[in-house]
Amino acid sequence: MLTRRELIRRGLWAPAILGAARGVFAQQETNDVVLNPSPAVVPFTRRLKIPRPHLPLNRPGATPLELARAQSIVQQCTAEDRFRHPAADPCDIYEVVMKPGLQEILPGTLTPISGYNGTYPGPTFFAERDRASIIRFVNRVGTITSVHYHGGHTPPDSDGVPMMSFGSTDIISPMAPYPGARTNVYPNDNPFPATLWYHDHGEDDTAENVYRGLAGFFLLGPNQSEADAAVRAVEAQLPSGYGRYDIPMVFQDRQFNADGSFAYNNFGHDGFIGDRFLVNGVIQPYLPVARRKYRFRWLNGSNARQYEFSLSSGEKFVVIGSDGGLLPQAADVKSLRMAPSERYEVVIDFSRYPVGSRVYLLNGLQQLSGRGPEQINMDSATPLVEFRIARDEADPSTIPDDLSPGVAQYISEHLTERPGLQVQNVDIRLNRGNGAWQINDRFYDPNRVDVVERLWTHSTWKLTNESGGWSHPLHIHDEEFSIIDRNGHPPAAHEAGLKDVFLLGPNDTVRVAAYWTGEKNIGKYVFHCHNLEHEDMRMMGIFEVVP
Ligand code: C2O
Ligand code: CU
Repeated sequence: MLTRRELIRRGLWAPAILGAARGVFAQQETNDVVLNPSPAVVPFTRRLKIPRPHLPLNRPGATPLELARAQSIVQQCTAEDRFRHPAADPCDIYEVVMKPGLQEILPGTLTPISGYNGTYPGPTFFAERDRASIIRFVNRVGTITSVHYHGGHTPPDSDGVPMMSFGSTDIISPMAPYPGARTNVYPNDNPFPATLWYHDHGEDDTAENVYRGLAGFFLLGPNQSEADAAVRAVEAQLPSGYGRYDIPMVFQDRQFNADGSFAYNNFGHDGFIGDRFLVNGVIQPYLPVARRKYRFRWLNGSNARQYEFSLSSGEKFVVIGSDGGLLPQAADVKSLRMAPSERYEVVIDFSRYPVGSRVYLLNGLQQLSGRGPEQINMDSATPLVEFRIARDEADPSTIPDDLSPGVAQYISEHLTERPGLQVQNVDIRLNRGNGAWQINDRFYDPNRVDVVERLWTHSTWKLTNESGGWSHPLHIHDEEFSIIDRNGHPPAAHEAGLKDVFLLGPNDTVRVAAYWTGEKNIGKYVFHCHNLEHEDMRMMGIFEVVP
């Protein structure tokens, strides 16, 4: 059977012959494939899983075999001239095999997944700012892959852009110049610690690869240097301890066949919407909590679904961080919208609830297609997580008023319009053409550069959604950015920090400030819609940072 990527690869998606293709695939092309509803599941019977930390090969206590592997990875990177930092600097070296796995998601059946090290979600990476992570990714999943560290300030040859896709060890594809494996070198020199993630970015193949399980967290923390002293002090006051009081949650929707396998409509170009809600790979989990504050790192890892989060108690919660790090100031919200690939960090205080009570994290957004959400309807909100207030506990944590003076200063110094500042204006229009979504009337072309940016200069990207009733979360690689205005108004408090994804609802215009940094970050990157089916249908462009 022809898949989407084969259609594209064989050129069958070219607009001129789209009509012919439509004749052959009439049903699929009109997106009329209706998947059967997933088998019923009783919610809140399984505990939230915390993805395991992934340990470096060169950690203290590693086996001689692990150290030898680490050394071979370094040798390979040296031979390929991949280091952009002094090779003698301390670093963490990893190997990850992308491979099939089986996971019990529906009780009593096993779901085949594709996972980093065979697990879904993938293991969590931890890094300290400015300490490099070197990761060899081995492809044993049999599809075209590329691993992108989303939000990382990474040199282009390690960024996992689709132009660098590679096949598995036993497939040599014309689109895979690096068959079998690829090592990415991450300097981790983002300006601030942040909740980042890694996921597949294979050319034309991203949506299905991510859907089958290729995604995980990458948590960038402060280092021990003077530069990070202020952030370190704030982090120490916040609830902490990975998996204890500092809890990652990736939200994804999936659909299941009767045999427990993931259902996926390969021709659903609008964006895949599933009928089951998973958090860290578990359908509607529960989590026992103490009567105290918790820090949550929320990631919308869905292909196309947006969420509007609120608490069943109706009470407010506190947003403390966005895509690129802690917010300048904490923001109290009653509800929070999240588009695909956005991250928000929030603090919820459970001391308000008695032991034995339950509070639910709700999604109030109705969404039936990849077009975008229909409406907020709290009467039929879906509870995604059940918090069980299980015990009393002392709470030494606090939320400082000024969470991140550093981020505030970075934004005012580098990401704010001011008289006399030389700025390049970049116009990005999201529009519909030739039966799919385009950027400035064009489809992605791996051989074309759409925007040129000069290193150490500023630019303003004006993102305009002209595609009728559709929503598009636009993601720009390489840097963290800030919103100047949204439809002419300053951003809401929770959107006033560093971001790399910008949700464009129907007819929205968002202006984004950029500052291009890093001698090693010269070269070609992509920007694209993070509705992954739109991205695979080539709603993407290339920008090049030049010296
Ligand atoms: Cu999260 Cu280019 O992607
Ligand atoms: Cu889109």
